Amino acid sequence: MASTSAHVVGTIKRFVPVPLKRALARRLPASMWHHVDPEWHRKAVGGLWDTIGKLQFELLVREGLQPQDRLLDIGCGSLRGGVHFIRYLDTGHYAGVDKSAERLAAGRDVELEAAGLAHKEPVLEVLEDFEFDRLGQTFDYAVALSLFTHLPPELIERCLSRADPVLASGGRLFATFLEVADDEQQRVLDRSERLYAKDPNFWYSFEELRSACAGTALEADYVGDWGHPRDQKLVVFAKR
Ligand SMILES: C[S@@+](CC[C@H](N)C(=O)[O-])C[C@H]1O[C@@H](n2cnc3c(N)ncnc32)[C@H](O)[C@@H]1O
Repeated sequence: MASTSAHVVGTIKRFVPVPLKRALARRLPASMWHHVDPEWHRKAVGGLWDTIGKLQFELLVREGLQPQDRLLDIGCGSLRGGVHFIRYLDTGHYAGVDKSAERLAAGRDVELEAAGLAHKEPVLEVLEDFEFDRLGQTFDYAVALSLFTHLPPELIERCLSRADPVLASGGRLFATFLEVADDEQQRVLDRSERLYAKDPNFWYSFEELRSACAGTALEADYVGDWGHPRDQKLVVFAKR
């Protein structure tokens, strides 16, 4: 039955122009989105599903992540990195949070199911405002992949100030960011994105990110290039 309806929808979709398809999809309830596009959640987090999923996992393992460690994945989306971390970590040692209930649900119901990993009991929580204390645990590692790229300065500050208390002493948060180019052209681009784009990008200097953790027990360390295919840079916040 499900495959028949998918076939019918697929046939109709071929004749509908893309702008109309997008406008219609936006009006559907979230529970229907997978009928329009079974991979919508992979696209919603930026695509490059396998590449960026593995990239973040391999980074943390290189940086010493062990199966018995506890990891907080901030803005985990639909578990692009999450499926790799959940497979590797001990049962219950992965916590993924996102403000989007729909992306998180697709991660749990589609990706985790397909990977056969539900038994690893990840903690998956919708958090609107980085209320990490609600998770009731501390973490050895945290990752925020392609999150600061979409956050204004005040939300980065809030994210860091609320991550600080839930990081164990010596714990580290690995975050990617778009590094501002040192010229007026970049500033203009930045301003116009903030004003006009629906889901804007934000560019930062390392100094701005260092300032964002002032007053916390976190120390920022610039890593820069780490092989991200879209040139996102890496900063590490270490808990003293
Ligand atoms: C580009 S996606 C990346 C998702 C994931 N880290 C990955 O690598 O696939 C950014 C995610 O951050 C989430 N996000 C944005 N602002 C947030 C906020 N204030 N609190 C929690 N999640 C947020 C979005 O819902 C989205 O799923």
